[in-house]
Amino acid sequence: MTIESDHDFQELKVIGRIVARILQEMMQRTEPGMTTKELDSIGEALFESYNVQSAPKITYNFPGYTCISVNEEAAHGIPGDRMIQPGDVVNIDVSAERNGYFADTGGTFIVPPTTPQKKRLCYATKLALSSAANKARAGMPLNGIGRAIEKVAKTKGFKIIENLASHGVGRALHEEPKEIASYYDPDDKRLLTDGMVITIEPFLSTKSRIVNQLDDGWTLVGAEGNLSAQYEHTMVITKGKPVLLTVA
Ligand code: CO
Ligand code: CO
Repeated sequence: MTIESDHDFQELKVIGRIVARILQEMMQRTEPGMTTKELDSIGEALFESYNVQSAPKITYNFPGYTCISVNEEAAHGIPGDRMIQPGDVVNIDVSAERNGYFADTGGTFIVPPTTPQKKRLCYATKLALSSAANKARAGMPLNGIGRAIEKVAKTKGFKIIENLASHGVGRALHEEPKEIASYYDPDDKRLLTDGMVITIEPFLSTKSRIVNQLDDGWTLVGAEGNLSAQYEHTMVITKGKPVLLTVA
């Protein structure tokens, strides 16, 4: 969507802050020995307490409140019986709707003990997000986002998962502009415009450029032993730096 009123902006700020707080609390409360379903139940209680709806549930009938993806799982992991282990790389993606407005956020963390490689993967992915966001300006090409992400990934020695993309958001979980690539796509001629609401969500990985869907119809996994990280913010594009909405 494009913001057209102060009301739009205020509503987006509220739902943005809520998803950021839910993500933060779920990350803080993750413990080894917990199943991903138990972690999602913490999310469910938070959705209820904030009186918001899970966006993937109401949009796609996703079988969970949040997407929880562990190790070789990159995205769209279904909360279930998988038990979180020490050393796991865990991604939680939280998106929600309130009063017809949507915000989308996500983050990756390591359940201790970590390793230098896992730490570096998270660091590089965070850097890719901030680098892309810092360069996103009204009037600039949309493919500058992928260009910035690709530059960081290359410099830091990681791959980009190419079939996961950033997207427009605001009045729906996924809307125009759709499929904002995390790599430089010279054929994408679209421009960023003032007030446009988008996510930026790079996925960097140790091995895989492509992730494939499991038979469960949701979970996207890389090659055996692949690790990936994702950080995601919903933001408003302006003539200056974007306004991040998904901040606690
Ligand atoms: Co998300
Ligand atoms: Co998203």
